[in-house]
Amino acid sequence: MELPFTEPFKIKMVENLYKSTKEQRETWIKDASYNLFNLKSEQVYIDLLTDSGTGAMSDKQWSAMLLGDESYAGASSYYNLKESIKDLTGFNFFLPTHQGRAAENVLFSVLVKEGDIVPGNSHFDTTKGHIEFRKARAVDCTVDSAADPEAWYPFKGNVDIEKLEAVLRRYPPDKISCIIITITNNTSGGQPVSMANLREVRSLADRYGVKFIIDAARFAENAYFIKMREPGYAEKDIREIAREMFSYADGMTMSSKKDAIVNMGGFIGFRDEELFRLASTYNIIYEGFITYGGMSGRDMNALARGLYEGTDLLYLEYRIKQVAWLGTRIKEYGMPVLEPFGGHAVFIDSKKFLPYVPKEEFPAQTLAVELYIEGGVRGAEIGALMADRDPVTRENRYPNVEMMRLAIPRRVYTNNHLEYVASALRLVFDRRDRIKRGVKIKWEAPILRHFTIGLERL
Ligand code: F0G
Repeated sequence: MELPFTEPFKIKMVENLYKSTKEQRETWIKDASYNLFNLKSEQVYIDLLTDSGTGAMSDKQWSAMLLGDESYAGASSYYNLKESIKDLTGFNFFLPTHQGRAAENVLFSVLVKEGDIVPGNSHFDTTKGHIEFRKARAVDCTVDSAADPEAWYPFKGNVDIEKLEAVLRRYPPDKISCIIITITNNTSGGQPVSMANLREVRSLADRYGVKFIIDAARFAENAYFIKMREPGYAEKDIREIAREMFSYADGMTMSSKKDAIVNMGGFIGFRDEELFRLASTYNIIYEGFITYGGMSGRDMNALARGLYEGTDLLYLEYRIKQVAWLGTRIKEYGMPVLEPFGGHAVFIDSKKFLPYVPKEEFPAQTLAVELYIEGGVRGAEIGALMADRDPVTRENRYPNVEMMRLAIPRRVYTNNHLEYVASALRLVFDRRDRIKRGVKIKWEAPILRHFTIGLERL
């Protein structure tokens, strides 16, 4: 018998959860206009809205915070972070930012101009938002297998090299801001990108004379999947794999709130000093001086340490196996779940789960509302609401797969909590035939609407 996996840590401090009744939740979600972002955290029992900034820091990270240097310029915390980033990514130059989208804002202020094209593998919504806000276009070149929730391919996050090359052939290099590859591919289900794919993107970038940027929010989880699934990497160390992934790129944006296990923070890594210099001006305008960029010294210290904890093999093994454990519990009951299971979340195929709710009534949002009412569990819609309207036609964009995401915060919940989540979802599944109507939009913002949208129950 193989011994089961366990958390590679023990718990030193606890935070109470709030239990509520179904009747209370029905009132609260109505008052929140059926938008789960509008709920107060104490109205939620188990919060799987996001794995971003919701992780638990270690005793070593907390103690590093006490040593934070809050000098305006040249703080030792900045140099600690610079050293970690250089060691794990190989990038010589970096700018701290307050989170991932701030890194996008600063970098795109240099790279993206009106009319540009930014090809990649399913850009994350803030990435797409920053591109479209600048009147440029994000072109999704993800492999077709990503659209099939049941197809088992090891690297469903990959970019389709032929699709990407067709875009590069079609537009002159000065129209292509950069190629962006997101690892892991959050939008297509937390699916990994292979090393071979990153290598091929590098060679296309060289051939067509364009820059290649990695959106690295979940780079450590991606490295773990490469170690587990890609021939030639089983014996390699996670950090060695990470360094190789980054070696193919010209730069990176990082939301440190994911794989670096901090509650706030981000950065941009650059190979090229000139790009770093150009971006520095925008960093000063939008974020802060180039040696703190929106982060306090203590936060930079916690991040410098978190980068190592997030790339620890024992931790990653527990992390990925815990997510798969929830996926398996859901699948065992016959509920439609995206496979292979993602690195940070389990994704539910909501059109299959709620077959009677038409796509115009947003099945994934409807499922997230039902799950909340059933058990106080908060998931997130990764579907037509998040996809926003087409910037030109203003029509709703309906993605191939309409998903509800259950994102697992790092080092926060035990498998008992996740067993509860699977049970609540089962209860919704048992009454799925009675859920025939979804939700209707009452109010929406012109871009990134899902965060603030107001909905009505039909
Ligand atoms: N890139 C990816 C792949 C992301 O998943 C996110 C955030 C960002 C960039 C932006 O980073 O939040 O620090 O500004 N994803 C969160 C999520 C919000 O729930 O998936 P940020």
